[in-house]
Amino acid sequence: MAAQRPSHCVTVLGEQYPTDHMTNISPTIVSKLPLKLHTQPSHPLSTLRALIESHFPTYAHLSSLSPLVTPYQNFDLLSFPADHPGRSVTDSYYVNKDLMLRTHTSAHEVEVFERGETKWLLTADVYRRDEIDGSHYPVFHQTEGARIVSANPAGMKEIEEDNERLAAHLERSNIEIEDVPHLSPINPCQPAHDPKHTELIAKNLKLSLNSLMLHLFAGRVGATAQNPLRVRWIEATFPWTTPSFEVEVFFRGKWLEILGCGVIYQPTLDNANVSDKLGWAFGLGLERIAMVLYSIPDIRLFWSQDPRFLSQFKQGEITTFKPYSKYPACFKDVSFWLPEGQGLHENDFCDLVRDVAGDVVEDVKLMDNFTHPKTNRKSLCYRINYRSMDRSLSNDEANSLNAQVVSCLRDRFGVEIR
Ligand code: PHE
Repeated sequence: MAAQRPSHCVTVLGEQYPTDHMTNISPTIVSKLPLKLHTQPSHPLSTLRALIESHFPTYAHLSSLSPLVTPYQNFDLLSFPADHPGRSVTDSYYVNKDLMLRTHTSAHEVEVFERGETKWLLTADVYRRDEIDGSHYPVFHQTEGARIVSANPAGMKEIEEDNERLAAHLERSNIEIEDVPHLSPINPCQPAHDPKHTELIAKNLKLSLNSLMLHLFAGRVGATAQNPLRVRWIEATFPWTTPSFEVEVFFRGKWLEILGCGVIYQPTLDNANVSDKLGWAFGLGLERIAMVLYSIPDIRLFWSQDPRFLSQFKQGEITTFKPYSKYPACFKDVSFWLPEGQGLHENDFCDLVRDVAGDVVEDVKLMDNFTHPKTNRKSLCYRINYRSMDRSLSNDEANSLNAQVVSCLRDRFGVEIR
């Protein structure tokens, strides 16, 4: 008998899945899943991954976990509240209600700890619905790093010795650190922890990451030997770490947000069956760092197949990107009335535009948002900037893409074009 195909299904990475009311994964996104730029030799994201890995030579280096996870893995195991906005279909991509694309590499923390790894890095593609501009793309890459030790004198001794070694290294380096206390009333110790242990772990986290920042940024173009590398620590909150921090680096005249991190919340480790351990985790975004290290001006370039982009890079080398000519922009406005009582989320508009025009769209801006005082109907006007990174786009081509956007908008959302 022929295999029965469910009538409503979607194929993702060669497997078929039933769809339901939550399904919002788009063809553009599905096409990105097999690409794994962070493992493509000589790609800037692959070099950056390897550079981070080389700083943690004794850690396990993982980079081939499937992007399909359950909402339980992505959120619940990490103590996200039930009403967290990240769970909504306007923020995340769902295959169906039980399966989604990971929104962060933290989605794998519990399973990696459960496998028995105690020092590890994991690099992967992550997916978030977002607006369209030069620094946002619905797929990007993160590296997660974590270290756990036994919550006993032997574990604490291991951390103390490592702290001495790292502190001595940093003392000899040209780095200026703006710190915050390891613990504070808004960034407290967890009830399950001895504050002395937490202090040691937080110190190990800070020393390890300050030293990673030196490894990534010191000695690069624009960072001179006279100027110290400036790193700033900020108090933060994440549902699966306490205390939590963010790290920023001052590079080429700007403070750059680099990563989030913290002391792992004990229930997360309980979920992984390693209650007798404690430790830290961090997660950093690769594109933002690669954009500044390589001077890559537009996030779409990472996805370019153009040899003028790809042939510029060699595995293991950070070089300054030489832009090829910038092609003219072509702006088109789309104004429409929404059906009565209906709204349209900006991320839904942007995904539709990406499905029609792909990476030929440079940015999308909301120009006008008006509600008719009598009918209460809502009208929106978006300005789409069509510009290819690889070639000159004719006005006819832009018009034809824009006509397809308009017709899709009518079909999908029942809008009336103004
Ligand atoms: N997953 C977080 C993010 O995407 C970063 C993070 C990782 C924070 C690990 C704390 C610990 O922003």
